[in-house]
Amino acid sequence: MKLITDNKEYADEYLKSTTNPESFWAEQANDFVWRKKWAAVLQWDFNTPEVKWFLGGKLNITENCIDRHLPTRANQTAILWESNDPVETSKKITYQQLYEQVCKVGNMLKANGVKKGDRVCIYMPMIPETAYAILGCARIGAVHSVVFAGFSSGSVADRINDSGCKVLLTSDGAFRGDKSINLKSIVDEALLKSPSVEKCIVVERTKVAINMQTGRDAWWHTEMQNAPTVCEAEEMDAEDLLFILYTSGSTGKPKGMVHTCGGYMVYVGYTFKTVFQYKEGQLYWCTADVGWVTGHSYILYGPLLNGGTSLMFEGVPSWPDMGRFWQVIEKHKVNIFYTAPTAIRSLEKAPISFVEKYNLSSLQVLGTVGEPINEEAWQWYNKNIGKHNCPIVDTWWQTETGGIMISPIAGITKTKPSFATLPLPGVQPAVMGENGKEMEGNNIEGRLTIKFPWPSMARTIYGDHQRFKETYFSTFPGKYFTGDGCKRDEDGYYRITGRVDDIIIVSGHNMGTAEVESAIDEHSAVCESAVVGYPHDIKGQGIYAFVVTYEPVHEETHLRNEIKEVVSKIIGPIAKPDKIQFVSGLPKTRSGKIMRRILRKIAEGDTTNLGDITTLLDPTVVDEIKSGAL
Ligand code: WT7
Repeated sequence: MKLITDNKEYADEYLKSTTNPESFWAEQANDFVWRKKWAAVLQWDFNTPEVKWFLGGKLNITENCIDRHLPTRANQTAILWESNDPVETSKKITYQQLYEQVCKVGNMLKANGVKKGDRVCIYMPMIPETAYAILGCARIGAVHSVVFAGFSSGSVADRINDSGCKVLLTSDGAFRGDKSINLKSIVDEALLKSPSVEKCIVVERTKVAINMQTGRDAWWHTEMQNAPTVCEAEEMDAEDLLFILYTSGSTGKPKGMVHTCGGYMVYVGYTFKTVFQYKEGQLYWCTADVGWVTGHSYILYGPLLNGGTSLMFEGVPSWPDMGRFWQVIEKHKVNIFYTAPTAIRSLEKAPISFVEKYNLSSLQVLGTVGEPINEEAWQWYNKNIGKHNCPIVDTWWQTETGGIMISPIAGITKTKPSFATLPLPGVQPAVMGENGKEMEGNNIEGRLTIKFPWPSMARTIYGDHQRFKETYFSTFPGKYFTGDGCKRDEDGYYRITGRVDDIIIVSGHNMGTAEVESAIDEHSAVCESAVVGYPHDIKGQGIYAFVVTYEPVHEETHLRNEIKEVVSKIIGPIAKPDKIQFVSGLPKTRSGKIMRRILRKIAEGDTTNLGDITTLLDPTVVDEIKSGAL
């Protein structure tokens, strides 16, 4: 694959990709190994909606991630693993070793009854076995469904049940900073509610005492011991499922986004190389967790498809101290560093000596992902980490898009703080106005849609195609609606302004307010609640809950803590409200709809511009809520 080398080439490529998308993507796809070439590049209809790429093509993504590199890179590090604990030795996993481990997992899964098309849930920390697990599934055509190891037992059970996973891969525990989390006990609880799981295979990581249920549970090391190191890759159709990954919905339960083999491979391979301008021999580090799409696409698949070396980090930015990221960069001489604005903002608050202690001169490219980056954080990153010498790629994309959609190309696109800048080749955004029509020209603001398919887009919501259609293709018929608002400035640059639906982005994590509300409502003292986002210094957005109780509250702090605990138990610690305000009623319209617009304003600290409140059933609640605002 040739790299784009200047802005003119970008413009040419972009034009080619829009005037003849099929030949553009066929050209990119030709950089990969196919068992059988596709018969047609694209078939699509955004009304049904149905999207298929590389129809009839046969491949296995692990042959592209691993096997094809073996003749030239067998001894090159594929994954460089850095432990949570700086004292523990790092591990270099070569392409040859990765091949053997992935094959062993493939064989182990087969020995445990897993066949092509079966779903396997992976609930594991950031350890090398997790990479083997994910790729091992792909090796044999099993569909991986990774669940972030910070989710509660209830969330794990819901996700397992929604996709009917047959096997669950987990570990005894997880290290995160100074904490050790007992994952297996969470799994034990989840499995009480998940009858589809026949086998649970457990990696030993923290050596904490755990319960093993005879017949159901087995140790990873025992199961792997005699598994052969060669496992023929399953031949997959381009449109066979590669994975399911759950993301929050603005209403109801999480959505299992379905990604397929061929298009995902081509797009993620192409965008990794293009956006980061990845070059032979560079060390790349993405700090995300593999439980999120960023980890799937840009810790594992993207770098491996390009024969790269990807650093996988088990720990957290703040332990043993706030210099951990910078220490790892110095230790391993990281060249490309990709992280979230929330991490930047929290590290920015620490004394600058934590940064200055380390030599960061290996860095060449910086990236951000997950939420809008404010200008101040961008400038701090640019000055203190990049030393004004590293292009910053602010990459906009989603679980649903599979790969990066709008982003600068490192070192080529002129950057502008807080702008994701320009669409990548193959991406056709359209900004929609209040009237539901596409807005033309520049200096506009509206809702961001994509009007033409790209290879890695989600094909459906697992088990609920109707919801897929309603969520993404009904607001603006014939277009994919992202749920984000955006501006397009005089240079045609995009600035993502944030969600326009009831999803909030907390520390880069996508959270449905409805899901948090229903968790809060589980507390026996709670009658009803409304959750909105508010600007938070570090997290980007914080969670603000307005809670109505059955009885007057006497011990507010105590009840707040109890509610947080309930939410943490039901969804996970990441969903704990930052602020809980007890109110006697919620502002509702006569038809009973909560006017979140008003609550959002109050949560933001703006109590003067509440707009028209005359349609409220009881406008007096607004004064009460205003005066009690936290
Ligand atoms: C939502 C998707 C992309 C992987 C991680 C998040 C927000 C993402 C940016 C960015 C502004 C961003 C959007 C999007 N978002 N990247 N560079 N600038 N906003 O994936 O959990 O599916 O969340 O994250 O609001 O819709 P996700």
